[in-house]
Amino acid sequence: MKKFSVVIAGGGSTYTPGIVMMLLDNLDRFPLRKLKLYDNDGARQAVLGEALDIVMKEKAPDIEYSFTTDPEEAFTDVDFCFAHIRTGKYEMREKDEKIPLKHGVVGQETCGPGGIAYGMRSIGDMVEMIDLMEKYSPDCWMLNYSNPAAIVAEACRVLRPNSKVLNICDMPVGTLRRISYIIGKEPSDLEVRYFGLNHFGWWTSIKDKEGNEYLPQIRDYVAENGYLTQKEVDTQHTDASWQDTHKKAKDLLAVDPRFLPNTYLKYYLYPDYVVEHSNPEFTRANEVIAGREKTVFSTARTIVERGTAEGCEFEMGAHATFVVDLARAIAFNTHERMLLIVENNGAIANFDDDAMVEVPCIVGSNGPEPLSQGKIPAFQRALMYQQVTVEKLVVEAYIEGSYQKLWQALTLSKTVPSAQVAKEILDDLIEANRGYWPELN
Ligand code: NAD
Ligand code: G6P
Ligand code: MN
Repeated sequence: MKKFSVVIAGGGSTYTPGIVMMLLDNLDRFPLRKLKLYDNDGARQAVLGEALDIVMKEKAPDIEYSFTTDPEEAFTDVDFCFAHIRTGKYEMREKDEKIPLKHGVVGQETCGPGGIAYGMRSIGDMVEMIDLMEKYSPDCWMLNYSNPAAIVAEACRVLRPNSKVLNICDMPVGTLRRISYIIGKEPSDLEVRYFGLNHFGWWTSIKDKEGNEYLPQIRDYVAENGYLTQKEVDTQHTDASWQDTHKKAKDLLAVDPRFLPNTYLKYYLYPDYVVEHSNPEFTRANEVIAGREKTVFSTARTIVERGTAEGCEFEMGAHATFVVDLARAIAFNTHERMLLIVENNGAIANFDDDAMVEVPCIVGSNGPEPLSQGKIPAFQRALMYQQVTVEKLVVEAYIEGSYQKLWQALTLSKTVPSAQVAKEILDDLIEANRGYWPELN
């Protein structure tokens, strides 16, 4: 089997060790000849990079491994770039969450004003990275899960329409694990129909390979329990705040019991509940800093101190096997069916062609082919049109340096109550994002 060269961009990410362990576990399906980490924060990446050097020597000495901050070294001779960067790191995520909350508005990494702020920071870095990849490895594919994926995907559509970038999210993957557990199946047994935007969608059908429909049975369960399951099958979204999110899906379903909702809809359909249940002094960023980040970096330090990973291993990111499925689909033309964020072009029949939507696609060597999801109801269509317009206005604001358009984007977000509040939040965000955002006029 052909062997591949992969660079992980955002090498210092809390997810990097889990992804590397997952790749090592999948070498029979996706063989590697080279693995590189790339980050623009050398000190942060080095902690994980050195620990993973020990892991790689112990577990896969045949794979050429390195970590670097030099783009030429990182992007030369690579077949795939797995991208999970966070422009501004946790310091800025904290501000994205806390600034809107100060104004009584949802403070979230990817939804509402926080997601907009993060989008304005990420577009420049993402485009620069695509250019670097194309300069040094013109045939390379970027599998991107850097957030906010909806805004990043729209920016790619507008600014780099011909680049080989696939945008994917793991929330539907995690929730499908729960859904399949509820009906006693494996995710690989199921074929779904789904429509929406990233972090903004609905399952309309969950069938097994024989064509039996399970949606009514799942709906009965979710109406009682949300996506909470007895056994923890979605290993990524486990903290107490996530359990609350899985449970809240029950109230999302109540709004339209025909479809199974993406958990992220809670920020748009129940923003008042979200604000009431947020602690403006201690948000999700603080939870992750005290939890996942601390665990991952302290494990890395222990491995380096001991000079071995024996007895102190990184946890495997089993949830991330979808990245291998996606890479394999392109590498081996597997025609895997996966949810991706793609240009609509008729996949949702009564929605704009140029909207970046999340729908099932068949993925092969030439990339994704979106599957037709038919017409969608007025309620979902209107919500989606509002939200996709927010995302488009952000990208336009970024390109044109337009204060006006960014103010409109914030005003239009369903999470924000008025143009006045939007302006107050925007002015605070501009202050906090100096040096990250383009100048706005
Ligand atoms: P993190 O801050 O721990 O890691 C991000 C890393 O990216 C940092 O080491 C940072 O230095 C680096 N970085 C920032 N800008 C860079 C640039 N221009 N070039 C190279 N490296 C750069 O964050 P995390 O919590 O581990 O998350 C990483 C990313 O993955 C985030 O964007 C997060 O939202 C995203 N994510 C997405 C999904 C999804 O479903 N799409 C799932 C999980 C995480
Ligand atoms: C889900 C979403 C991601 C998001 C992540 C945040 O997986 O799909 O887009 O980045 O949750 O998780 P965290 O644990 O960092 O809050
Ligand atoms: Mn996501």
